[in-house]
Amino acid sequence: MEISTAAKFKGRIIETSDEVTLAVLEAMAQAGSARLREIAASFVRHLHAFAREVGLTETEYEIGIDFLNRIGKATHDYHNEGMLFGDAIGFSTLVCLLNNGKHGATETAAVLLGPFWRANSPRTQNGGSIVRSPTPGPELFAECEVVDVAGKPLDGVEVDVWQSSPVGLYENQDDTQADMNLRGKFTTDASGRFAFRSVKPSGYPVPTDGPVGEMLRAQNRHPYRPAHIHFLGFKPGYKTLITQVFVDDDEHLETDVVFGVTRALVGVYRRHHEGEPPAPGARAPWYTLNYRFVMEAGDAILPKPPIK
Ligand code: BEZ
Ligand code: FE
Repeated sequence: MEISTAAKFKGRIIETSDEVTLAVLEAMAQAGSARLREIAASFVRHLHAFAREVGLTETEYEIGIDFLNRIGKATHDYHNEGMLFGDAIGFSTLVCLLNNGKHGATETAAVLLGPFWRANSPRTQNGGSIVRSPTPGPELFAECEVVDVAGKPLDGVEVDVWQSSPVGLYENQDDTQADMNLRGKFTTDASGRFAFRSVKPSGYPVPTDGPVGEMLRAQNRHPYRPAHIHFLGFKPGYKTLITQVFVDDDEHLETDVVFGVTRALVGVYRRHHEGEPPAPGARAPWYTLNYRFVMEAGDAILPKPPIK
């Protein structure tokens, strides 16, 4: 009886390096979900091809497994090393660009989420401050609007805002900051606008005390992100907009350690040193930021918060 290649292989002892790939693909072909079959098969094909291409040694294989294990061990409720790894190898940016801007055909305002978004930021009234404990740095007054792709203002968009303090740490990394310092949730008004007060963000290094830090040092890479503020816009009927607005004079705009900067996301943080401040008592110099966010129609799906 004639036996097909796949069937012929089934149940046989693996004798060559080519056969192991076939055997794994065959074993995984039973998965009930077609999408799981597609993803798992492609993953194994590429991973096996990678090992063949570089001639992976057993010692290197051990180092790789140890690296993965240590990423898992370094991840807990308040730190997400896995997400940091995906960011530091440009994988999150790739996935973001493949899924936004008409599947990568046009420019998009979307960018990676990063490991520091927390759910349940304090609701803050339009124009209110997200500075919740003494925080150094010049004051920032941001006025933003959210529109659809036709330019129509979108009201009722819930916008999460979060940033690190100018000492380079998010509040969850720094006991000296109040819980939820430099985080807030705003709602756009009838003209699609929201405004808030904060401090001008500074660039900061991503955490380097874990396996990702080791990788960066081994690759002679600096760990810095250019200064930015994160935004997440949520409104039913629209694709959740996850983005960041970068400070235009930052020295690391072109070498962001996590490859997040696109031209559209460089904001104009304007410095003011004289005249009437936007709020009584604001000290010069203060900065202003005006930015317009565009949301595409789509599904309003919230990401899983990387930390609690
Ligand atoms: C952030 O901007 O919060 C971030 C993004 C990726 C890795 C580390 C930090
Ligand atoms: Fe950040």
